[in-house]
Amino acid sequence: MAYGKWEIYPRGRPDLNNLRKPMDPCDREVDEFGRLREAAHEYFCRRNGEMGKHPHILLALLVTSSQHRRRGAGSLLVQSGIKKSDETGLPAYLQASEQGRRLYGHYGFEDIDTVEFNLSDYGMTGVERMTEMLRKPSGTAELKVADST
Ligand SMILES: CC(C)(COP(=O)(O)OP(=O)(O)OC[C@H]1O[C@@H](n2cnc3c(N)ncnc32)[C@H](O)[C@@H]1OP(=O)(O)O)[C@@H](O)C(=O)NCCC(=O)NCCS
Repeated sequence: MAYGKWEIYPRGRPDLNNLRKPMDPCDREVDEFGRLREAAHEYFCRRNGEMGKHPHILLALLVTSSQHRRRGAGSLLVQSGIKKSDETGLPAYLQASEQGRRLYGHYGFEDIDTVEFNLSDYGMTGVERMTEMLRKPSGTAELKVADST
């Protein structure tokens, strides 16, 4: 029905070197969306790499199957990460689609930066917005987030 993946990095990410690698060129050839996949790869690796210099927990994936949306499943999975964040004192970080952004806002995530992907650059139509968001654990001192540009 719904799937969420929280990754916990108490000492920052151990795989920073992997995040600096370009996408395997073979992955670009799989289908007609290769260039978009490559742009997404570059975006996620760069942003996760920047945040990865700091201790945090990352919401790496959240999806609810379309027939079960707006019934609270996504919220439950977000809350499980928030609980872990508050227990550990680690800030919670994610990159939100427009569908997820409102939901995360309800739980105290704040915008850091928004990037627009113009899908016409990739043979499609529309614009996809991704917003980096951060929620500080409750009851802890302010976290210094590195420049994400
Ligand atoms: C984003 C996503 C994961 C949300 O999952 P979800 O299970 O629908 O989440 P919830 O049901 O907890 O909350 C969604 C909305 O329904 C509302 N809601 C929750 N339970 C409800 C209920 N019983 N009755 C009415 N509304 C309800 C929530 O308040 C929320 O409202 P909002 O739009 O104002 O934020 C889902 O839309 C999705 O999979 N989208 C595609 C993938 C994607 O964009 N993932 C996020 C990547 S960061």
